[in-house]
Amino acid sequence: MKLNIALLAGDGIGPEVIDQAVKVSDAIAQKFNHEINWTSALTGAAAIDAVGEPYPDETHQVCLDADAILFGAIGHPRFDNDPSAKVRPEQGLLKMRQKLGLFANVRPTFTFPSLLDKSPLKKERIEGTDLVFLRELTGGIYFGERGRKDDGNTAFDTCTYTRAEVVRIAKKGFELAMTRSKRLCCVDKANVLESSRLWRETVQAMEKDYPEVEVAYEFVDAVAMRLVQWPNSYDVLITENLFGDILTDEASVISGSMGLMPSASVGEENALYEPIHGSYPQATGLNIANPLATVLSAAMMFEMSFDLHEEGALIRKVVEQALKEGYVTEDLADGGKAYGTAEVGSYLVDAILK
Ligand code: IPM
Ligand code: MG
Repeated sequence: MKLNIALLAGDGIGPEVIDQAVKVSDAIAQKFNHEINWTSALTGAAAIDAVGEPYPDETHQVCLDADAILFGAIGHPRFDNDPSAKVRPEQGLLKMRQKLGLFANVRPTFTFPSLLDKSPLKKERIEGTDLVFLRELTGGIYFGERGRKDDGNTAFDTCTYTRAEVVRIAKKGFELAMTRSKRLCCVDKANVLESSRLWRETVQAMEKDYPEVEVAYEFVDAVAMRLVQWPNSYDVLITENLFGDILTDEASVISGSMGLMPSASVGEENALYEPIHGSYPQATGLNIANPLATVLSAAMMFEMSFDLHEEGALIRKVVEQALKEGYVTEDLADGGKAYGTAEVGSYLVDAILK
């Protein structure tokens, strides 16, 4: 099979972890007789430095022309502490999501048996955790009307959703639940927010189309609590943009390291795969960042964009093998030997090709 993939390495550790995902994907292509054609393009602070904006038109065109997009991370501290900055790397991310129509952000949280002790939560609480958040990604307060009034002394951001926006993300949730344990949790704040009441009413109306799916409705504050008490009680969760942003960060540490969880952002036409972690600027160029989240994002790409399930499964298998054998970066080394980002990538390549 021919795979045309856009490669957006971005900032900080982005290029280093992306390099490993490319190595691993090329090894998979070699093993299974595929041909991958990579096209690199600029995003984030790197793009601001080169052309003055974080998601340039050329990059957008590269993404449109590709079958899938593999993305590293964006963000740079020099923008974070400068409220006057006119352009920010994060704007590139939001623009990219919106222009590519990536409305569904798929963020799984699962545990690895060999890492149960690394979690900040007790082992018996997290054993068997395997849940997926579907976060709405192109609507809500991130894209609503915002501004200042009262001579700049009052600020507002608005959360707006249309029924159609809720239907399309909920549909993905129901469909995903059908392929798993047929349980769906709709996370909202319907006791307070009108937009949440629209979510709940819309999802309730869709229940009849999926009679096998058992739907639970829970308030976001209660979910935040249960997520650290009984993460293994959840399966598929759907939620709006900001709630999803917060809850998926909370969920991402359950497995033991931020550097482990992959994600996909999909729309009707395009799909982008990226690690859940950020650009970790302090680690840039040090060859210490954990590449596994990006490598697992490539596995999701093989499966979701190309229906190549054996390929995805082999990536997961060698990742598990690396974890079991302690072939890990310093975030997981726990005083034992820590391997470099590139060395972990090479280990995975060897394991795939042998
Ligand atoms: C994420 C990030 C982004 C978001 C930031 C960098 C704009 O936190 O992908 O979760 O808030 O969506
Ligand atoms: Mg976030």
